[in-house]
Amino acid sequence: MKTTDFIKYKHQGKKITVITCYDYTFARIMAETDTHCILIGDSVSMAMHGHTDTTYADIDMIALHTKAVRRGTSDQLIIADLPFMSYRGSLDRLINSVTKLIQSGAHAVKLEGVEGNIEYIKHLVASGVPVMGHIGLTPQFVNVFGGYKVQGKTEDQAKTLLEQAYALQDAGCFSIVLECVPSSVAKEISTSLSIPTIGIGAGVDTDGQVLVLQDLLGMNTDFKPKFVKQFMDGHQLIKSAIQEYCNEVYNGSFPSQTHSFASTPKNRTKSTCGIEKETA
Ligand code: KIV
Repeated sequence: MKTTDFIKYKHQGKKITVITCYDYTFARIMAETDTHCILIGDSVSMAMHGHTDTTYADIDMIALHTKAVRRGTSDQLIIADLPFMSYRGSLDRLINSVTKLIQSGAHAVKLEGVEGNIEYIKHLVASGVPVMGHIGLTPQFVNVFGGYKVQGKTEDQAKTLLEQAYALQDAGCFSIVLECVPSSVAKEISTSLSIPTIGIGAGVDTDGQVLVLQDLLGMNTDFKPKFVKQFMDGHQLIKSAIQEYCNEVYNGSFPSQTHSFASTPKNRTKSTCGIEKETA
């Protein structure tokens, strides 16, 4: 998938899939699926580092996880989040942060909000960096919103969201994430814009969907907002496998002979320092 395919997909009415991913192992699994795009979201600070919100992510954290993901992917478009405050303040900061992410393997960056970002977006697009916008519930603004609340419920708020979406499109964004907005509002924005919208908690009428991998896999028992569908009970499955391992170690059934090396003269070799060693 390329950023230039986004608009084609929208015209053809084909849905776009985005999933977050933060490591090499999962990136390799995703490479074997039809996932179009991988997002190294700032949700990494919560999902992988145990922080309470996304404001704890920094540019080095996103860059490190982007490098790991890039090593595991094949055709997927890699989008990296610009974390809290990592680009605000000056063009120099923006350029340093974005250079780091692109040189870590990202093909595009995503940033949250609109006010104060338009000039930055134009500068990036003019410099050859595809930008994805993000409006609605923008988690980096959690302290302004006073929690994780659905945005755009009133007519005025819905109008503001539509204006913001147009502003991002005009600035050159190739796509916009709509997070936690009423389905009807997301539908209106999606049909109004020429660029695709990617929804999370925004109903079925956006041009694509994004989910956090750990949510999709059912890894969290203590986080299940309305918009998350758990496609497996990952928490229970993984917990059972780990418990099974412990049980087998404690009762002596693991490792069995199948998982052990035999000591026969046939597979003994001399190591370089002359000590006999076994080969696998
Ligand atoms: O960081 C993230 O996971 C995101 C998605 C929820 C869109 O920004």
